[in-house]
Amino acid sequence: MPHDAIAIIDFGGQYAHLIATKVRRLGVLAEIRQPEDPIDAFAPYRGIIISGSPSLSAHGEDSEYTKEIYELDVPILGLCFGHQEIAKHYGGEVIHGGRQWGPAELHLTGEHPLFAGLGPVEPVWMSHYDSVVSVGPEFRELGRSVTTDGGPDHRYAAIGSDSLRRYGFQFHPEVDDTVHGDRMIANFVFEICGCRPSWTMEAFLEEELDRIRDQVGDRSVFLLASGGVDSTVAATLLARALGPERVDLLHIDNGLMRKDESAQVLEFFRGLGLGSHVHFVDASDRFLAALAGLVEPEAKRRAIGDTFIEVFQEEGARLGLHDHLLGQGTIYPDTIETGGTKRADTIKTHHNRVPVVQEMLAAGRLVEPLGDLYKLEVRELGEQLGIPRQLVWRHPFPGPGLGVRALCGDGSGDIEGLEEIAPLVAEVGRRYDLDAEILPIRSVGVKADLRAYEHPVLLSGDSAWESLLAAASALTAEVPGINRCVWNLAEDAPATALPLPATVTRERLDLLREADARVMDGLRRHGLYDEIWQCPTVLVPLDLSGNGGELIVVRPVRSRRAMTATPVELPRALLDELRRDLLALDGVSGVALDLTTKPPGTIEWE
Ligand code: XMP
Repeated sequence: MPHDAIAIIDFGGQYAHLIATKVRRLGVLAEIRQPEDPIDAFAPYRGIIISGSPSLSAHGEDSEYTKEIYELDVPILGLCFGHQEIAKHYGGEVIHGGRQWGPAELHLTGEHPLFAGLGPVEPVWMSHYDSVVSVGPEFRELGRSVTTDGGPDHRYAAIGSDSLRRYGFQFHPEVDDTVHGDRMIANFVFEICGCRPSWTMEAFLEEELDRIRDQVGDRSVFLLASGGVDSTVAATLLARALGPERVDLLHIDNGLMRKDESAQVLEFFRGLGLGSHVHFVDASDRFLAALAGLVEPEAKRRAIGDTFIEVFQEEGARLGLHDHLLGQGTIYPDTIETGGTKRADTIKTHHNRVPVVQEMLAAGRLVEPLGDLYKLEVRELGEQLGIPRQLVWRHPFPGPGLGVRALCGDGSGDIEGLEEIAPLVAEVGRRYDLDAEILPIRSVGVKADLRAYEHPVLLSGDSAWESLLAAASALTAEVPGINRCVWNLAEDAPATALPLPATVTRERLDLLREADARVMDGLRRHGLYDEIWQCPTVLVPLDLSGNGGELIVVRPVRSRRAMTATPVELPRALLDELRRDLLALDGVSGVALDLTTKPPGTIEWE
């Protein structure tokens, strides 16, 4: 192997690939390996990192893997599940309990090369159910963690044995929210494993152009382009690799787009030099028909994904593009969240990963030049390719668009089991001087690498931002069945929150489109658009004020790669304007701000 390299063992954790990205950004090649790969496959590496996993270490059912790695004379670092496996393998104990989501502090017990250059207390990011409660004789505790909501300390958040060169972190150094996580990974890669850097992003671009030419051969590509950052970069990259005359591009108006978006998208693509190769079809009626009567988020996603492909195939046939390969701007999180690696849980089905597309993938008819990248890397590539800044740094928008953000319900509120946890919810709320009430609706989230389809809590009352965040974090950590918290922006707590039967209809989409436009205007007016990663506006079928209207949730988040996210505090003046502008819309009964980190929430509600 010409480069010094690190192997990442992918146990299906949401962040396995992110570890590889972080190592590569240090200039060191990192390659993903499977847990059952033969021991020889690990020979070329100077170090091994074991990822997190949706399976539970304490129960150990899924812990079948090539355990001979522990006999290799190279350093091994375990993260989350990997940390628990290392502790267990060398005589420690792991229990089912001590779960933590989101921010925590790592308190180091002393100096160690893994933490060289860092302070005694470091902000870190957690997402786990199981915990290490003791370590074997050769190990020592390098750090313990303290949650920021005042919960109990957790011991053994970082462990290590210098004689064995085995280490474990309960937290995730690979996510951006572990502020100095890059430094910890660098310390492992350079100080502990002794790697030398030799891998660059420019090299990646050149390799990628060659890879596209190799895969496509003398054929052409027909690309489905929503106009978001990913498909824009993918289209530009394909045009660069193959020449514009071998790239055809279809933009479909699915009726789920933002206000005036399709027109802007088409203008950009025509400017790319693709000219008559840019095609457009308004299929909004088809999409609405496919969504009629659907409530369950995954059913909606599949209907949207299938309709995309049907329309795409019909247009391809009409245009005579029979032999073209299908191009998509799929990025890595789309694959991992769809359960696209062997052990990963399905958090959601991305529109570009529905079964028909999976079949085309298996048949080698799919070209996805961004498949190994995260949004941040896609944006860097976009800048390298000369795409205008305002396009590259536009807020991400999901392929299924407002179809995801218009929550649906059958009117029952899914309230089974809620009565039992209601007193606990109220009690945690009181601890922070807030009124806390479970909302009768469910939305998708992610906890310890698993999909969580659970209820939100509505907090009412005035309080400092830090206290609101602490209440939200305590509620999702302490109360089972809660994956989000929102803050009521209306003056009073609602008397009741009445679930309304709702599906995706043109009227609801028009209302959501207008609400979204008002939120975006507000962010721009206050100069906040560029500071914020993304700000979904969500239509939730709950009547909070008895006027038959729905709840609007605004979710501004900070993130870098969308795998984790933190809520953003908006100025009070903007919150006042949003409350006024949104409540003024016909069909709105309340306005709330989302306070949830990812995990346990996702960025989108669905
Ligand atoms: P979540 O909600 O999983 O979203 O935290 C992470 C990021 O992915 C975007 N997203 C999608 N993008 N097709 C896409 O192209 C999809 O089906 C899809 N679903 C979510 C989301 O907007 C966020 O930026």
